[in-house]
Amino acid sequence: MATSEPIALNPLRRGLVEDRTGDACAAVIFGASGDLTRRKLMPALYNLAWGRALPGGFAVVGVGRRDKTDESFRAEMREAVSAFSRRKPIDGALWADFERGLSYVRGAANDPATYESLRAQLERVDSERGTRNNHLFYLAVPPSEFGPIVDGLRASGLVSTPGRDRAAGTWSRVVFEKPFGHDLASARALNDSIASAFDESQVFRIDHYLGKETVQNLLVMRFANLLFEPVWGREHVDQVQITVAEEIGVEGRGRFYEQTGVTRDIVENHLMQLLCLTAMEPPISLSADAVRDEKVKVLRSMRPMDRDDVSHNVVRGQYGRGLVRGEPAAAYREEPDVAPGSNVETYVAMRCFVDNWRWSGVPFYVRAGKRLARRVTEIAVVFHEVPQTLFRAARAAGAVADDGGPRGITPNVLAVRIQPDEGISLRFISKEPGQQTFLRDVAMDFRYGTAFGSNTPEAYERLLLDAMRGEATLFTRRDEVEAQWEYMDHVLEAWASSGPPVPPIYAAGSWGPSEADDLLARDGRRWRKP
Ligand SMILES: NC(=O)c1ccc[n+]([C@@H]2O[C@H](COP(=O)([O-])OP(=O)(O)OC[C@H]3O[C@@H](n4cnc5c(N)ncnc54)[C@H](OP(=O)(O)O)[C@@H]3O)[C@@H](O)[C@H]2O)c1
Repeated sequence: MATSEPIALNPLRRGLVEDRTGDACAAVIFGASGDLTRRKLMPALYNLAWGRALPGGFAVVGVGRRDKTDESFRAEMREAVSAFSRRKPIDGALWADFERGLSYVRGAANDPATYESLRAQLERVDSERGTRNNHLFYLAVPPSEFGPIVDGLRASGLVSTPGRDRAAGTWSRVVFEKPFGHDLASARALNDSIASAFDESQVFRIDHYLGKETVQNLLVMRFANLLFEPVWGREHVDQVQITVAEEIGVEGRGRFYEQTGVTRDIVENHLMQLLCLTAMEPPISLSADAVRDEKVKVLRSMRPMDRDDVSHNVVRGQYGRGLVRGEPAAAYREEPDVAPGSNVETYVAMRCFVDNWRWSGVPFYVRAGKRLARRVTEIAVVFHEVPQTLFRAARAAGAVADDGGPRGITPNVLAVRIQPDEGISLRFISKEPGQQTFLRDVAMDFRYGTAFGSNTPEAYERLLLDAMRGEATLFTRRDEVEAQWEYMDHVLEAWASSGPPVPPIYAAGSWGPSEADDLLARDGRRWRKP
């Protein structure tokens, strides 16, 4: 019988689709006594348990060098979850159930005995909780320990090959935290070592920016809407600006920062990923490899820079003393564990080009820094100006509105706000109400918080769940991470070969060194104030 009423989805069936939890499994967290486990991983797992997204019998085996019992580990994790979970207060009954799956193994990464204890514990967990030899190894340890853990897992036979796994109906996967390498050579060496123990399909390299809802929404915005793609390229886009700005300084992580600087900490990974998602072609599907193939093509299209190019197109800086939100802030060189004469960069701005058909000639201005005026991550696509003949008279009529704001025609801007105040804002020109034709730039805003509520999942929730499901789209592939380093190595090598660099000092709380403004001024452009 024909009917105009839509057939309602069977709600039971919908639940099954949305709550796909994956196979029963145990996560082994190396670095279970560390900061990342406390602040991110355990709260993420608890929130997944709250949302009933974890498979039944799910277990965590924490590994660290510090002495702990299962009980003391559970108590510490409860405290951590109480402090850092996005859902508060902690649900006592849920926690009691969750903590039954937590246990701790003490051991050092380079000690074969660690892997023997781990094997014994995993056998216990598999038989008691039905996790069926499905194991997710998560390396939340300093990068120096990645190699010894890969070696330990390989030597102990704790990780089997995908072929053997498939035959046995089980799997093992391994997740690597960032930073992944220090330069191209070290990233390649690490990849070689990983490839000697695992198949690439078992390897999940984290870039936690990819787990952010707003970053995932970039693909949805671009490819699930008709509006944007036709204007997404050199014919309509004048420039793209990507900003990853932090207000905070190094916050007690001076030792780490002295080794990395902002280039290795943010630009090589997070910022490059944002650029790839902005510039990539539509993938043939949403499968992990189809999406990553397109990102790799962007990286391979990026115009390499020689030493001269680096000096023309890259500006670095280091924060000096200043005021952040009205509070005095120390200079980078005054931070704990930072050398008094340190030349490490806390700010980088770059002018990059993606030399392919779509983006030929469109500059991508990217910048990242600490102790800047605001915490904001934003991608701004700035369109070409319209021919202004029609509204010339309106422009001449008055450059300043009654409220002091600027009048006239400015380019349309589509700004994707990754954090905070996640959303999308489109700026366009409108007529001011009144008898005369005065033109003003106005904004149409979409805010995630307003549209969907503010309690959105943390990046680590999505990433942990995806790794358990074997879904690798939001993780970086070997060739991708190497292509990122290949591009950034030009910059790092140019700096290294031009003697000890002296980055310009910018005041904490400012938008960076004036040299970064000059970089755009030479092209007749300005940084947006996001
Ligand atoms: N914290 C964050 O927000 C954050 C953000 C992004 C990425 N990461 C990355 O995540 C990783 C961990 O960072 P974190 O901040 O958690 O560091 P952390 O607080 O210093 O903790 C390091 C952990 O690694 C363990 N560990 C160190 N050396 C070991 C060894 N030889 N054998 C066995 N275990 C060892 C430590 O165990 P013991 O203390 O028991 O020795 C501790 O549990 C790093 O790669 C970092 O770059 C962290």
